Amino acid sequence: MNGITIALSKGRIFEETLPLLAAAGIVPSENPESSRKLIIGTNRPDVRVVIVRASDVPTYVQYGAADLGIAGKDVLLEHGGAGLYQPLDLKIAKCRMCVAAPAGFDYAAAVRRGARLRVATKYINTAREHFAAKGVHVDLIKLYGSMELAPLAGLAEAIVDLVSSGGTLKANNLVEVEDIMPISSRLVVNQAALKLKRDLLQPVIDAFAGAVK
Ligand code: PRP
Repeated sequence: MNGITIALSKGRIFEETLPLLAAAGIVPSENPESSRKLIIGTNRPDVRVVIVRASDVPTYVQYGAADLGIAGKDVLLEHGGAGLYQPLDLKIAKCRMCVAAPAGFDYAAAVRRGARLRVATKYINTAREHFAAKGVHVDLIKLYGSMELAPLAGLAEAIVDLVSSGGTLKANNLVEVEDIMPISSRLVVNQAALKLKRDLLQPVIDAFAGAVK
């Protein structure tokens, strides 16, 4: 398609991307929180925004259905990054990936004993790498959301999830037992689109870079 298609997810990433878009002279004409539209126009007739699930942003950009996208490092690590140019850490939507367990569970002692732990997570690849690097034996259980419920319902002993304020862990009597990595959102660009439409895309990338500094 001619022009620029930008893939964004609703919520925190959309809200925190607005100032970056503004720095590039792009103002979406609607907010996905109030409109149910999935294709949103902007003040620029050649720029549109498509609203997709956070975990689908890399896929849209990989296949060129979107030229640019903004995705969390958590999502990019699970996707693998094939076909994506990742020029910028936008330093938005910051949080941390961590291991959490019920407050009464002695995670460190279980690890020392060499116990095989059941861990529920949406982030199977990241979790696998983390526990392998630490030499911790785990059976990973894939979930798609509400990870905090898994230890409470007896599905798993621990979870790997994102923590921002810590409010969700606290409300469910869970505590962070291991930090995995800081997470923020990155700009992803379709590599072929960057070559074919560099005159259109590079100014947007440069404006984002300027706004991040
Ligand atoms: C994320 C994460 C935690 C929560 C952490 O879920 O999975 O559940 O936010 O935030 P807090 O530390 O500020 O409480 P999100 O709301 O993004 O939904 P999800 O379960 O679909 O990932």
